Amino acid sequence: MNEKEQLESVRNWVKEKLINERTGHDWLHISRVATLSVYMAKEEGADLFITETAALVHDLIDAKLEKSERLTAGEVTERLAAFNIAADSIQEITDIITRMSFRHRELLIKRPLSLEGKVVQDADMLDAIGAAGIGRAFMFAGAKGHPMYGAQTSVLAHIEDKLIKLKGLMNTKAGAGLAEERHQFLLQFAARIQKEAGICKS
Ligand code: ADP
Ligand code: NI
Repeated sequence: MNEKEQLESVRNWVKEKLINERTGHDWLHISRVATLSVYMAKEEGADLFITETAALVHDLIDAKLEKSERLTAGEVTERLAAFNIAADSIQEITDIITRMSFRHRELLIKRPLSLEGKVVQDADMLDAIGAAGIGRAFMFAGAKGHPMYGAQTSVLAHIEDKLIKLKGLMNTKAGAGLAEERHQFLLQFAARIQKEAGICKS
């Protein structure tokens, strides 16, 4: 298999696995993150194959996935090897997906992600802000039965506590550039929903 065929195999596998996922790690999220990652990898001079493969598999090991959908890093490695992807490339990919989560940010100070990892992490954060990010936050809240506003578990609280910080955490110039417009949209959305709900703070 050449790299193009390997990517196609990975794409089909992940799509089948996450097509019905309901907490914001669904195939459409993966697909947007992969497209954004490739775009930014070109801007940043990152390896396109490592970047796109890591983007495609980045959420398969996420602790938030349902048990039936979640894989271990070892299972991802096995599957990538079955697609004939070279062992050193697999190592680079698993190093990215096991360390890029928001929860592990402090550990990255000691040993930062590779350039490819930084690009995928930026793409993942970009997909949590802007219109797609707002849509995902509502999908997450719907799946968990959380309200839109008025509670610490609400979408509005999540936007104000977490999502508005993401713009400032971008690793790459390409990511920071794309974050700006999405961040503004997020702020506008938060302001409007507060106005419509009569909870305007000003
Ligand atoms: P990541 O893809 O970075 O691992 P998470 O697993 O934290 O992101 O969350 C997946 C999606 O669900 C994101 O779009 C995130 O903003 C959203 N989300 C996570 N927690 C909440 C919450 N408490 N309320 C609303 N949306 C949430
Ligand atoms: Ni993700």
